[in-house]
Amino acid sequence: MRRAALECPSLENSMAKSTRYKPKSKNKAQESIRTLISREKIQRRIAEMAQEIRRDFPTEAPHLVGVLKGSVFFLTDLARQMSGDISLDFIAVSSYGNRTETSGEVKLTRDLDSSIEGKTVIVVEDILDTGMTLQYLLRVFEQRKPRRIRVAVLLDKPERRLAKVRADYVGFTIPNEFVVGYGLDYAERYRNLSDVGVLSLGKKEQR
Ligand code: IMP
Ligand code: MG
Repeated sequence: MRRAALECPSLENSMAKSTRYKPKSKNKAQESIRTLISREKIQRRIAEMAQEIRRDFPTEAPHLVGVLKGSVFFLTDLARQMSGDISLDFIAVSSYGNRTETSGEVKLTRDLDSSIEGKTVIVVEDILDTGMTLQYLLRVFEQRKPRRIRVAVLLDKPERRLAKVRADYVGFTIPNEFVVGYGLDYAERYRNLSDVGVLSLGKKEQR
């Protein structure tokens, strides 16, 4: 598999001007979000990633498989930036629950609608963190005889890696910080933010 991370913008290049988001509700008043990657940078990078994928598979209809729910925004923007035919499907796995640390346990909670046999599958993930989720999914998918599997992630946190997995297409490599926005959540909140930002928890709720 090809390593696309070499072509990725460094964090310095992708760092947006710092802005702070303060939730209004009282019990969340301690949380704040500092913008890490602006919506404009996200959209520009996704357009490039779509071209990279199309360049690698000019005559095929890549089958984009989004990992619910975090990848939804990334997948829909990526799909719209791709020229030619594509198809898509979704799978869901259990992940963090309401905390910011992974349990390391991965469970399939929603399977694909259709077979991936013989297809060029692009697994689309919001973030590659410990890699446990991706390792599990790749094992599941490889048993189903796809033509080939590639992995596209918007964000990569290589410092946290536990499993021996890597992505073929990486949007941005980021440091070891808990991020939210553009699909990424904390306790199901903040997915709808258009930028990606670093979440700071209040004193009582530290990681
Ligand atoms: P992994 O299995 O540790 O690689 O984690 C994958 C999943 O954990 C991602 O798809 C996210 O749902 C979640 N996750 C990991 N890091 C973050 C983060 O910084 N913010 C929000 N969710 C995260
Ligand atoms: Mg996820």
